[in-house]
Amino acid sequence: MEVIGIDLGTTYSAAAVVTGDGRPEILVNRDGERLTPSVVLFDNPDAVLVGTLARRSATSRPGDCVRFVKRRIGEAAPVHVGADGREYRAEEVSALLLRRLAEDAGAALGRPVRDVVITVPAYFDDARRTATRDAGRLAGLTVHRLVNEPTAAAVGYGLRSGADGHYFVYDLGGGTFDATVLRVVDGDYEVLATDGDRNLGGYDFDNLLIGYLATRIHEQGGPDVTADPVLSAELRERCEAAKHQLSTEEVAPVRLVARGRTYAFQVTRTEFEDLAAGLLYRTELLVESVMDEAQLSWRDIDRVLLVGGCTRMPMVRELMGRLTHRVPEPGVHPDEAVALGAAVIAAALTEQHPAVTVSDVTSQALGTIALDADTGQLTNFVIIPRNSPVPCRYEETFVTVQPRQSRLHASVTEGEDSDPDHVAVLHRSVLDLPPGLPDEAPIRVVMSYDADGVAHVETIDATHGRSLGAVALDRPANLDGDRLAASRAALAHLGVR
Ligand SMILES: Nc1ncnc2c1ncn2[C@@H]1O[C@H](COP(=O)(O)OP(=O)(O)OP(=O)(O)O)[C@@H](O)[C@H]1O
Ligand SMILES: [Mg+2]
Repeated sequence: MEVIGIDLGTTYSAAAVVTGDGRPEILVNRDGERLTPSVVLFDNPDAVLVGTLARRSATSRPGDCVRFVKRRIGEAAPVHVGADGREYRAEEVSALLLRRLAEDAGAALGRPVRDVVITVPAYFDDARRTATRDAGRLAGLTVHRLVNEPTAAAVGYGLRSGADGHYFVYDLGGGTFDATVLRVVDGDYEVLATDGDRNLGGYDFDNLLIGYLATRIHEQGGPDVTADPVLSAELRERCEAAKHQLSTEEVAPVRLVARGRTYAFQVTRTEFEDLAAGLLYRTELLVESVMDEAQLSWRDIDRVLLVGGCTRMPMVRELMGRLTHRVPEPGVHPDEAVALGAAVIAAALTEQHPAVTVSDVTSQALGTIALDADTGQLTNFVIIPRNSPVPCRYEETFVTVQPRQSRLHASVTEGEDSDPDHVAVLHRSVLDLPPGLPDEAPIRVVMSYDADGVAHVETIDATHGRSLGAVALDRPANLDGDRLAASRAALAHLGVR
């Protein structure tokens, strides 16, 4: 069986495969490109347009064009409403992207592609991972594993360099940021700690520049660009281009024609860096906190890998130089490293590449709310701490608090805080307890993460050793089995081109 690696990015996606000589290679898409813009244009009732051509339409038909869908994966609200009124969820649009990537990969390989691993930001939570796996299913693919993006990048780099030691991966992409520390020994990649922010990427840097210039246009008596979808899509294009230019030049021009008038600006790198200082600082704090979690100092770090298109910005390189006193590894391709590593992990899963093993950690703590006997307060008890190696299984025993208690409030939380108001509640239900339980009857809560980082929970009546049921995390934001099947059938009628 041949499994390919797919980097499903916020702005760009890529597919790669391990070839006969054991090296990963990017698979070129039908447009002859190594990266496919993650853009879907709903311009035709029979088939959507994906990639560069769709992206070109972003400014002319912003209403039909769906971008940055990864920022919204795992949410229930639709990301697009078609001309026929059909609503599309983020995992459905992601499925269309995945289908295009898989079809193109198949064309490049000369055989159909069904089996994939898909990468996700390390900081993605359970709902977002589940939605990503569902997107693969909706695309008719078998998703063998979800792999964390920084881990994939480290594997791709490590395979080529053969270097052992501690790696620090700073991954700033189009939509998300991850900071990860790994220990690499002889083809064994062990993640020690990871942290991140799923809403911190190039998109946010663009938004700052857009907001800044929109204000200046308004000050000069121009229209409110942000209220006009076509103008804001145009300004977004110009600002992203200026951001790229500022990575190599000190000044970038931005021009926008609005209502017959031309607005022209010269943005300097210093101006842009001042605007972006807050975003950059947020990455710095996460870098420092992940080093604390890993209990390492910079002297222990042997390799610094910069991954993601945004690490081309000089301010990122300066920040990492200042923090680490190291030169980042030159051989890392910021846009391709994740897909290449994903291909290696895909091959390792099917034993085409037995030289690589990966052990990752969970980025989210999992727990439950119970009464703290000492304080009498409802408290969040963490059962699986953050940065635990996955897959993992932890259990904790609680006791009933009332005599002849007949029901139990069960909950599953995500987050580390002991205050229930400061964690996300993934699930709440009321379980019936069997009659005849003693006072302070032990109730065991078993929580696990599978290798994809998806959570599973079971509650057990320890008196009788009987399960009170596997808690199906209701994940209101995810599709249930019936809706998944219906959506898959509906999407099958829609082609990708
Ligand atoms: N030369 C450059 N200078 C500054 N930013 C750049 C440059 N080249 C690309 N970028 C930015 O990098 C981002 C895309 O990076 P990348 O392809 O790694 O992200 P992604 O995989 O789509 O997103 P994510 O990994 O967050 O889901 C975009 O915001 C893009 O504008
Ligand atoms: Mg990426």
